[in-house]
Amino acid sequence: MRALASVKTADSLRVFEVAYLGRKGKLTELLKGLASLTLEQRKIVGPIANATKQLLAEAVAYRRTTLGVDEKTPSVDVTLPGIRPPEGHLHLVTQAIAEIEDIFARIGFYRVRHPEVDTDYYAFESLNMPADHPARDEWETFFVTSPAALSSQERGREKSSLVLTPHTSNGQVREMEKGKLPIRMINIGKCYRRQSDISHVPMFHQFEGLYVDTNVTIAHLKGVIEYFVHQFFGATRSYRLRPFHFRFTEPSFEIDISCDVCDGEGCRLCKEGWLELGGAGMVHPNVLKAGKIDPKKYNGFAFGWGVERTSMMKEGLKIDDIRLLYKNDLRFLEQF
Ligand code: PHE
Repeated sequence: MRALASVKTADSLRVFEVAYLGRKGKLTELLKGLASLTLEQRKIVGPIANATKQLLAEAVAYRRTTLGVDEKTPSVDVTLPGIRPPEGHLHLVTQAIAEIEDIFARIGFYRVRHPEVDTDYYAFESLNMPADHPARDEWETFFVTSPAALSSQERGREKSSLVLTPHTSNGQVREMEKGKLPIRMINIGKCYRRQSDISHVPMFHQFEGLYVDTNVTIAHLKGVIEYFVHQFFGATRSYRLRPFHFRFTEPSFEIDISCDVCDGEGCRLCKEGWLELGGAGMVHPNVLKAGKIDPKKYNGFAFGWGVERTSMMKEGLKIDDIRLLYKNDLRFLEQF
């Protein structure tokens, strides 16, 4: 063993191994010699000799690893770069939400969250859509408690039926009720609608902007839209306001941005060069009243756009089925 300790190189270890454990090695010879002993003697010497051989073989193997020359278990080279485990990343929609939040934060819009399961009051009634108003039908709502199940008194504000919010506009009056002015909110959350086809998912996200202050004009709304369009889509994209109708804004618009796939020429993805971003308008006085804000002193604008749709428009992605976003197919997700 002492001789083994003094072995310093791979070559001398090999010599040592052959000298003791090789076919003509010292220990091998000794074991061969056992044959000439009597049975009694062999019973005593045999196990000791075998154990010694095994011990020596193990010692040689160990010495080899400490010399770093074991061919079977290669030595560790700590200077080599490690093997990286596969790394995931945030979902395309989560990335878009973070970017949208960041863009609006730079002009003083703070992100808030409001309930994604809310009362009929905040989702519709406070937004100038009284019970049974036909405009409600546009939102393809999922009802948690059916309005029909409530008595007429229960339909009051506290006990109004619950819905899965079909838009983030339920955050408007909720934000006003906080009683702090001016309001510069960006409410990003999940929305639900009874729709599932190639261009709709039953759960999606919207980001809702609300600005309430004194002397707010359409020019302010346009300024914010232009800022967002240029930050998010790039300085080459343009936008337009198209007259529209919402019960909670007056006047109301739909915002379109120029299609970058065809550069405004018109293609399969767009409508004559324009892509629809979503709704916007000047907050209706009745909505301000519902939020305990005096419409004679204050006014504001609001907009509500879909995150999925907006981020698809940025990438110029021609996804033939928007439901792909939530199928969790890695071949799709890994591309972003
Ligand atoms: N809530 C509307 C929708 O879901 C969008 C909108 C928000 C329109 C704010 C005007 C003002 O379509």
